Amino acid sequence: MQDNPYADDRGNKDRSIANPKGGGTAEGWDRKGSARPAPGGLFLMGHKMTGGYGRGANILNDCTISVEKGQIAVIVGPNGAGKSTAMKAVFGMLNLRSGEVRLDGEDITDLSPQARVAKGMAFVPQTSNIFTSMTVEENLEMGAFLRRDDIRATMEQVYTLFPILRDKRRQAAGELSGGQRQQVAVGRALMTQPKVLMLDEPTAGVSPIVMDELFDRIIEVARAGITILMVEQNARQALEIADKGYVLVQGANAFTGTGQELLADPQVRKSFLGG
Ligand SMILES: Nc1ncnc2c1ncn2[C@@H]1O[C@H](COP(=O)(O)OP(=O)(O)OP(=O)(O)O)[C@@H](O)[C@H]1O
Ligand SMILES: [Mg+2]
Repeated sequence: MQDNPYADDRGNKDRSIANPKGGGTAEGWDRKGSARPAPGGLFLMGHKMTGGYGRGANILNDCTISVEKGQIAVIVGPNGAGKSTAMKAVFGMLNLRSGEVRLDGEDITDLSPQARVAKGMAFVPQTSNIFTSMTVEENLEMGAFLRRDDIRATMEQVYTLFPILRDKRRQAAGELSGGQRQQVAVGRALMTQPKVLMLDEPTAGVSPIVMDELFDRIIEVARAGITILMVEQNARQALEIADKGYVLVQGANAFTGTGQELLADPQVRKSFLGG
């Protein structure tokens, strides 16, 4: 793993204290000239988000989600709780009836998803997150379509992070296994050189071993300074790597705390973690 740009050689394998200060050095992935938030400050925040689809009823009810620079925030909750809707709202794919979204202190509530990408946000949706008929490498190139600079170094970083993608780069992405497809989706998002990476159920449908591997790679990305906001069905495992955790129920915040606090909370354990 020495040649891996994401690798952290501090020898600290304790996931619970990944990025204790929310710092990180953003090697390679950072954008030049970007404003730096105060250390430890909220980097991305959906504040009191309320809204639904079209003219339908509210799905989100005063929902607040935030993540500090370089940290990992995880959203868990039952099916239909509005986790994906909250992600869409933060990414600008849902019109909010009230509330706001801030990135690095700036109000981005009215920006389109494309404008948010230009500001350094990347989103891997829960479904349809790759182009199945395109090759792996073409998928990565699609991720970089907004860029006008040389993308080869970023592609190298993605291939170093996910070596299997290099081996399969000429293969149609649709032929890959579930875990490999998720790597393509995450790799595609990384091609934009995001400051914040939003992942909706990145480990859906993969085996426990592949899930562990994906989580390890996500930790590496965070340690390189990229802020992570993700939704996870594998609540217990995800909270183990989370600096901050949110339990959403019916579009509202039910429990919020550090990953460890939520894992230790008897009510959260009983209702959402299977005891
Ligand atoms: N495009 C849409 N149009 C209308 N209603 C929708 C749409 N997408 C989701 N909903 C509704 O919004 C509610 C929340 O759905 P959402 O997908 O956000 O939940 P979730 O917590 O991500 O669930 P899951 O764990 O199954 O992924 C559900 O009642 C769902 O039916
Ligand atoms: Mg969902």
